[in-house]
This record gives sequence, structure tokens and C-alpha cells, in this order.
Amino acid sequence: MSRTLDVLLYLDEGGQVRPPTADAAVVAIDILRATSTITTAFMNGARSISPALTPGEALETRDLSPLMLLGGERGGVLIPGFDFGNSPREYTAEAVRGRDIAFTTTNGTRLMRALSESEPLYIGSYLNLSSVCEAVAGAGTDALIACAGTHGAFTLDDALFAGACVSRLRPAFDELTDTALAAMALWEIMGDDVVASTSATWHGRKLIELGFGADIEFCGRIDVTDVRPVLSSGVITLSR
Ligand code: MLT
Repeated sequence: MSRTLDVLLYLDEGGQVRPPTADAAVVAIDILRATSTITTAFMNGARSISPALTPGEALETRDLSPLMLLGGERGGVLIPGFDFGNSPREYTAEAVRGRDIAFTTTNGTRLMRALSESEPLYIGSYLNLSSVCEAVAGAGTDALIACAGTHGAFTLDDALFAGACVSRLRPAFDELTDTALAAMALWEIMGDDVVASTSATWHGRKLIELGFGADIEFCGRIDVTDVRPVLSSGVITLSR
């Protein structure tokens, strides 16, 4: 079977995503910082993460299971009453081991919800790059690397990471779409120093302004874990 690798450069305002085929393996990306934070939480022993569209929805999820923790951001900062913001450095083993978390972010969880019909849907970041690429290459199907972007627009930090995935996955696919080729070209130009390239992006500069510059270095570490979070039936858990 001929295999196509596609990249969604950003989720548009309407939240429309069209994977190349119904059984395509999909990777959701929001490098700064939702998918890096989710990867970190699982690396540190979290049991499940339920992505919510709004803070209100996260609170409702938690109300059904009062032991759940609440995480996420609006405007990049902690939501009042939540246990954690969206800094991956907050999701330590002491804080999250064995815990279920209701989680909402401005763009990342919106992307996950838009893709929730896709199976398998992997949560990808530099932290688990090889592990996720190995699963996508091994799936034997078409694949879509889906970037969240910001507020319905392109963001370079996500596209750069999509390019890292395409560069790794290319040998397993027969056809790369134009967006996959464009992302790979970005990676070839800017991928030598992920932290410097990501810091220079709009989202990187915004996080530095908010005092979260250390998160960019944290999120830019490649292959620090082999955990592979997957979203299925509305909940993210580790794939077996
Ligand atoms: C998002 O979902 O838009 C981001 O993860 C926001 C952030 O950097 O906290």
C-alpha cells in the first residue's frame, strides 16, 4: 500500500481537520507547551489526562471525580483555582504520580478535541520524538502530523517540530504532501539549535516575556523519554 505523510500546519478557526485517510496515524503537536507538558506528566507517572475545551469543562470533569487534579492555562498563566499551570516543570513525579488530571489550554486541547475521532492519536513533543515516530512508521498507514498553531494561525515552533517528525518518518512513506515538504525544509534550515530557533518564534518570545523562558529549554530536549501518550475515547493514557 502506498503511504502518504501529511502535515496540518495549524488548526483553523473552524477547527476543521482532514486526515488523509480514516485510519491514518495522527500526531497532535503543541510544542509550547501543551503536548510537552502532557508528555512530561506521563513521564512522571500521571495515570490519565482528560483534555477539556474550557476551564468550566475541566471543572465539571473534576467534579465528577473529586480526586482529579486540574491543570492548564489561559493567556499562558495559571487559571485561578487550578492546581497547575501549563509549565511542564510543574508536573513533577511528586505532584502527578498515579493521578488523573483534567487539562485545558488555549490551543493544544482544542486541537486534541478536533482530532478526537482519529485512532491512533499520539501526543508528540521533542521529549518523545523517536518513540512517537517509531509508532507512526510502524503503523503501516497514512499519517498526519497536526500542529495546533495559535488562535487559528500558523506558529513556527509547531511547524519546526512537524519538520523534525517528517525528517525522521520520510523513509517509511511513499509520498510527502507539500505541507510535509515545507515543514521538513524549515527543519533543515532551523533544526540545528531547537532551543534558539524556538525562542525566536512569536510564542517563544511571549513565554520569555511571561517569565517562562526555562520552559523553552525544557521542551527543546530531544528524546528524554519513550512514553507514548495516546488519546482514545476522550482520555489520554499511555499506549501499551
Ligand atoms: C496552548 O495550548 O495554546 C499553549 O499550550 C499555551 C501555553 O504556552 O501555555
